[in-house]
Amino acid sequence: MDIRIETGDITSSTADAVVVNLFEGMTSPGGATGAVDRALDGAISRLIAQGDIRGKSGELTLVHTLGKIPTPRVVVAGLGKRQDFDIDAIRNLSANVVRFLRRPGVKTVATIAHGAGIAGLPAAACAQAIAEGSLLGAYRFTRYKSAKDDENGEVETVVLVEHDPAKAGVMAPAMARGVVMARATNLQRDLANEPSNHLTPTVLAERARQVAEAAGLEFEALERAGMELKGMGSLLSVAKGSAQPPKMLRISYRGRPGDGYDLALVGKGITFDTGGISIKPAAGMDAMKADMTGAAAVIAAMEGIAALKPRINVVGIAPCTENMPGGAASKPGDVVTAMNGKTIEILNTDAEGRLVLADAVCWARELGASRVVDIATLTGAVTTALGDVCYGIMTNNGDLAAAVEAAAAAAGEKTWRLPMFKEYDELVKSDVADIKNTGTGNRGAGTIVGAKFIEHFVGDTPWVHMDIAGVDIGDKDRGWVAKGATGYGVRSLINLALELAE
Ligand code: BES
Ligand code: ZN
Ligand code: ZN
Repeated sequence: MDIRIETGDITSSTADAVVVNLFEGMTSPGGATGAVDRALDGAISRLIAQGDIRGKSGELTLVHTLGKIPTPRVVVAGLGKRQDFDIDAIRNLSANVVRFLRRPGVKTVATIAHGAGIAGLPAAACAQAIAEGSLLGAYRFTRYKSAKDDENGEVETVVLVEHDPAKAGVMAPAMARGVVMARATNLQRDLANEPSNHLTPTVLAERARQVAEAAGLEFEALERAGMELKGMGSLLSVAKGSAQPPKMLRISYRGRPGDGYDLALVGKGITFDTGGISIKPAAGMDAMKADMTGAAAVIAAMEGIAALKPRINVVGIAPCTENMPGGAASKPGDVVTAMNGKTIEILNTDAEGRLVLADAVCWARELGASRVVDIATLTGAVTTALGDVCYGIMTNNGDLAAAVEAAAAAAGEKTWRLPMFKEYDELVKSDVADIKNTGTGNRGAGTIVGAKFIEHFVGDTPWVHMDIAGVDIGDKDRGWVAKGATGYGVRSLINLALELAE
């Protein structure tokens, strides 16, 4: 999809559809909506008076213009109550509009800048949200459909029409930033929606290499031998059951002079999680093809960061493997040694995410990262705690956690912090090794136990753990969130890099 801004008058747009808006409770439309209403001899006002248009949030009304203005269709988008209206609402509305206009004959859409008029929101942020929402709403994963199963077609172009040239000048770079953010998110979705037979660790490494090369970033993939040399016994223990070789990926972005990294992004890359010998039930196991959304988010975020060029050094790391119950697989009770020398008792082979992250976090620190943020579909328990509304954040550093929270909020991604009290430490203490990979005896706090395990590998490096297991896959389209892989985390991570660079 192509997105651009034009200065001009929306009433003379020749697009296949024109999008205007209305706050709930307004009886006579103002601004650009008012201008379109007048050009249509008051058709919108009449629909409001009749009660057909109420301006409620999520309401989309198609009005046929019957030759009164050049565009054949006007969509009146309800903005809801003025006091509830914000940038997130614009992003969601823009996504819903693109889906609504997925119908015959609509290829180009012109829209007014929702929020930048009477709502008084900052014009740049409004434009960015419109770009993001449009691209995220248009996303579909159709790679494995042989026949086009609908004739509705796709919206190919969205034009933001702004009448004030000064405002348009402010909006243009913000739209470009929104396009980068959304394209990165859609890249994450493309990777995560792939089935595991098509996206093995080897294929994921190849895709990551292509992304890195296209963005001019340094790329490295550690093979099994390289991991053995580094003593990554924790990751290797997960890979043992699989016929597919594991890969530990590194993508480096350097935006400032000097060595070291101001930020490491570490993403869980289990291309399929059967649970291993502690095998999962059959029902719903297919969802575990997406147990690499953390890795995909990191790869995608690196692409976005490279495009936006903040003055900061960032390394993206993705430990990638399958978790399979093979003849050589790890067994409950096995003890392995991670890269930092800590011994781990594997009590449940299905708690494999923390095992691969342990070595990845050690490597991030060896590479000289002064902050570590990991992103992982780590626990089913986070869904019990938080549902699909927000992701869990755990940390050893309040400042870094606050930065992640701010970055996520700016992206319209909700987060919630879970505690890391000392009392939880004993849940990962082992009788036979330094630590164990699960809590036992069902003492609860499953999500925190996962974080407590990873904490053993971060040392005193400021660190945030994002458990995205509740939000990474959507069951239906909902605003910017798509059915299937949602892209959660990508824009949080890009915003974080931008924020830390300031
Ligand atoms: N990949 C799963 C977590 C998961 C579950 C993600 C559902 C998305 C949806 C993870 O590897 C796992 O299996 N975790 C176990 C941990 C337990 C054995 C301590 C879990 O949550 O049950
Ligand atoms: Zn698992
Ligand atoms: Zn897993």
